[in-house]
Amino acid sequence: MWIRALCVVGTLSALSCQSGPKRLDPVPKELEGKVGTAQAAIGELKKTLSGKLQSAVQTGGPAAGIEVCATDAVSLTSGVASSKGVEIGRSSHKLRNETNAPRPWVKTYLAEVAGKPAKDVKPGVFDLGAKLGVVEPLGAQALCLNCHGDPQKFPAEVKAKLGERYPKDQAVGFAEGDLRGVVWVEIDKK
Ligand code: HEC
Repeated sequence: MWIRALCVVGTLSALSCQSGPKRLDPVPKELEGKVGTAQAAIGELKKTLSGKLQSAVQTGGPAAGIEVCATDAVSLTSGVASSKGVEIGRSSHKLRNETNAPRPWVKTYLAEVAGKPAKDVKPGVFDLGAKLGVVEPLGAQALCLNCHGDPQKFPAEVKAKLGERYPKDQAVGFAEGDLRGVVWVEIDKK
């Protein structure tokens, strides 16, 4: 409150009043390589996860997909992290699993973009000091609605499994094209 009042009257420099992480737009040339590595990691996680999810739902139905999202996602995520030398994860403004809670810089980004159509959400690159933070939006597609759409339309088995595992689930009620969440990466600048 006190800080904010100082900012308003302009006694502090604009820079020290900036709250939250600094967005890099455009990305400085010397950091483009690191951003590229982060984007490759995000692309790989999206591809492997949605591929596994799709085939699990096709062969075993949506209830089988729950195992992919809950169990395989963790091993796929740590696999990408070690192969690319980054930290990587999924998060959202509406969480199903608390262990996916956003880091502070991701939380700031999510607060800005929550509720927008996914197509209007730009990826972000943030300066975190010794690290860079790179974040990309995840849109809700038809496949996702099996487990993140209208709970009234969930197959009984999905409803039961989700209720049992995630009593505080907030990740429902999405429609196609909504922003479902994000994939984020932290990578060393050097
Ligand atoms: C078969 C059910 C199912 C489908 C289909 C599904 N999810 Fe999920 N999703 C889950 C479950 C279960 C979790 C919680 C995983 C965990 O325990 O980490 C989850 C978690 C997430 C998270 C992590 C944040 C959070 O809320 O915990 C994101 C982001 C996400 N899903 C996005 C998607 C997207 C995008 C799609 C479509 C491409 C999708 N999901 C399809 C079941 C599903």
